[in-house]
Amino acid sequence: MLGLKDLSAKQINLIIQEAFTYKKQFSALGRIKKSLLDKTLLTLFYEPSTRTMTSFNVAAGRLGGRTHNVSVSASSVQKGETLIDTVRNLEVMGFSAVVIRHSHGGAPQLAAENTAMSVINAGDGFNEHPTQALLDIMTMQQFKGDLQNKKVVIVGDIAHSRVARSNIWGLNTLGAQVAVCGPATLIPKGIEDFGVTVEHDLGRALADADFVNVLRMQYERQANQNFIPSKREYHRLFGINEKRLAKAKPDLLVLHPGPINRSVEISTPVADGKQNVILEQVVNGLAIRMAVLNLLIGEKA
Ligand code: CP
Repeated sequence: MLGLKDLSAKQINLIIQEAFTYKKQFSALGRIKKSLLDKTLLTLFYEPSTRTMTSFNVAAGRLGGRTHNVSVSASSVQKGETLIDTVRNLEVMGFSAVVIRHSHGGAPQLAAENTAMSVINAGDGFNEHPTQALLDIMTMQQFKGDLQNKKVVIVGDIAHSRVARSNIWGLNTLGAQVAVCGPATLIPKGIEDFGVTVEHDLGRALADADFVNVLRMQYERQANQNFIPSKREYHRLFGINEKRLAKAKPDLLVLHPGPINRSVEISTPVADGKQNVILEQVVNGLAIRMAVLNLLIGEKA
């Protein structure tokens, strides 16, 4: 599971359907088939995470599997060990799959080329974050069904966002209309070639939107912050607040992958309000990760 770029609509829908089935079973834990009973999952995160790492741990546990988290900051990576050597050494300890988050795009792909373990990309540089996009799409489908011709606006730091790229690939494959919106300095040149429209006026972008997926400013990835608006200016121009929602369709739904920065890309009344589905995304993330683990390394796989 390296990205959504090369997945078909059938493959995306298979994962999401399986996730919906798991979600229905959440209230009856005993009925979930323990398909990972003899499996141990490794998580190898070179960048911080709250939601992704935790939900892979919980997902594996709900399927009867075990997990081991390598703390990269306390590992031999700090002594210069390469990703390939790290993965090869951990592989011989008997893990079935490894979940990798890395600051370099392509790192999970490189690992996959050098291990027999299943590799799951938990976010690589600006490239992809496939399970995040799957849970975003699942959440959209939960509230509005088929996404064919639904308009999704992705607003924020598109240039540095792996969530944006995976959403674009997955949503395009499912026939949604995707628009990106943000400061010109944070929208990569040629993004239209990904099959999206570019809007610089947020009000215009939101006017006919069904969903807005709000991205955090990825300050840690921005090489030249001179071209980045201040937090206050960013909120004035691109922040999602009640005033903007009042001018959009009344059933516009607000998504955010987290972590949120209140009063920057999203106001507190919206982050805690009725039109956001942010915590539902987290619930769906657990179901998506169960589905991905079961499909990759479950008993029937
Ligand atoms: N959305 C997301 O990837 O969150 P974490 O960084 O907390 O895993």
